[in-house]
Amino acid sequence: MKLETIKKAQTSLFGYNDELAERFNISRRDELYEKFSDKLILNPALNRATVSFQDNKKEPFYRWLKFKEGFSSNLVKYFLHQIGNREKPLQVLDPFAGSGTTLTTSINQGHHATGIELLPVGIAAIRARLIADSVDINRFERHFEQLKASSFNSLSKGNYSFPHLRITEGAFSHATESAISKYMSFIDSIDDEDVRYLFWFACLSILEAVSYTSKDGQYLRWDYRSSRPLKSKYIKKDILPFPQAIHEKLQIMLNDLRKRNNGMFTRQVRIIEGSCLDELTNLPDNYFDLVVTSPPYCNRYDYTRTYALELAFLGYDEERVKTLRQTLLSSTVENKTKKYQLYTKYTGLEKHGFYHQILESFHSQEALHEVLEILHLARKEGRLNNNNIPGMVENYFFEMNIVIHELSRILYKGGRVYMVNDNVQYLGEEVPVDLILSDFAQRAGMQIEFIWVLPKGKGNSSQQMGQYGRNEIRKCVYVWSKPRN
Ligand SMILES: C[S@@+](CC[C@H](N)C(=O)[O-])C[C@H]1O[C@@H](n2cnc3c(N)ncnc32)[C@H](O)[C@@H]1O
Repeated sequence: MKLETIKKAQTSLFGYNDELAERFNISRRDELYEKFSDKLILNPALNRATVSFQDNKKEPFYRWLKFKEGFSSNLVKYFLHQIGNREKPLQVLDPFAGSGTTLTTSINQGHHATGIELLPVGIAAIRARLIADSVDINRFERHFEQLKASSFNSLSKGNYSFPHLRITEGAFSHATESAISKYMSFIDSIDDEDVRYLFWFACLSILEAVSYTSKDGQYLRWDYRSSRPLKSKYIKKDILPFPQAIHEKLQIMLNDLRKRNNGMFTRQVRIIEGSCLDELTNLPDNYFDLVVTSPPYCNRYDYTRTYALELAFLGYDEERVKTLRQTLLSSTVENKTKKYQLYTKYTGLEKHGFYHQILESFHSQEALHEVLEILHLARKEGRLNNNNIPGMVENYFFEMNIVIHELSRILYKGGRVYMVNDNVQYLGEEVPVDLILSDFAQRAGMQIEFIWVLPKGKGNSSQQMGQYGRNEIRKCVYVWSKPRN
């Protein structure tokens, strides 16, 4: 498509008149699009099920916790297949490891894996998968039989009461809350540490199913029957009784354990609990062959809200949840800037030059600043439904730029990055996350191999994006590599 045609389409699509279009020099995004248009490729081998958790729903072990933000094990296999056979196992890194799909899939394929993750829910899922490798199946089964043989009513209640956060109060019926207490004292009596952990994890992974809440979009959605004073008319389908839900979950786990092939997961995995904004700086230069990752999207999604029940269960109080929210990569309107913190970190590490390079790359990314200018004006004119959106978008890119520069540093020459991410739009304004991040990657010294775009419908063949439409809210996989010399 010609630039002029694009501009016209864009102006009407954004709802801006020509004068505004002129004023904002909208062409910065057009220019960026032109720059990478030959890299934007529809990849029919990818589909939304693979690039999301959907494909994991039936996958043994991965199906234990519904981590909706995850991608599938099949996707990681596809990336590993693209790399082809190597003499040595690869060193694979996922700096936003989530529930660890990259890690355990890579290990299972004979590679070494390192993951960084901050959300304890993800860490718990990874631990459960690693423990699954070696837990004593007979003992697991024995305790399961014991639980099935005792009716829940006959179990003693013990001292446990669900440690609610303000936003989880009223999430369970009295019957469920009491059954959780009984189950928790039942698992206290399990003497085998690994079996106890898996029974505990089973409870963590059914909290949503037995509650009045649904993880829906950016927030928890509440069923009208909960004891909270709500205006909601929402009726959640299938709120499972706790005994049924826990039996079903433990049965699935037992079935998967029976299929295991010892050594699937545990070899050579390293999990670093913390923020990648801190932890990446501790990793050596030129070390990793492959990065497979999906960062949070720039879409206001708040992991601490959607996973509030699980965080409460994990013992997080209000203060810890707040700190966690602020430490996660900025993707919510509540995130405060980490710029000063990051500046102090890099100067403390005496990496002034590196930090300066990162800043330079951020400040000279004109398409991003075009978006920010438009959002700031919209804020001034009272047209945004939340005034923190411009700050959130700015912080998101600032932090992602740091991550990308670090990835370029720690990659071995010839190493590759596969990154899954979505574009977003605010107020009808396209934020071309794929292009802006790829531009950062290029400035950080990487080559942009492809920006694979997911086909929307069926039957698309591989073709260049010139024929696809400029204003598509694309879901993409970025493929970047570090030059060999
Ligand atoms: C899209 S999810 C990744 C899911 C993962 N690919 C999987 O299959 O489970 C993004 C992850 O980034 C994590 N995250 C956000 N900010 C982080 C940070 N500063 N450091 C490390 N992890 C972070 C979130 O907790 C979330 O688990």
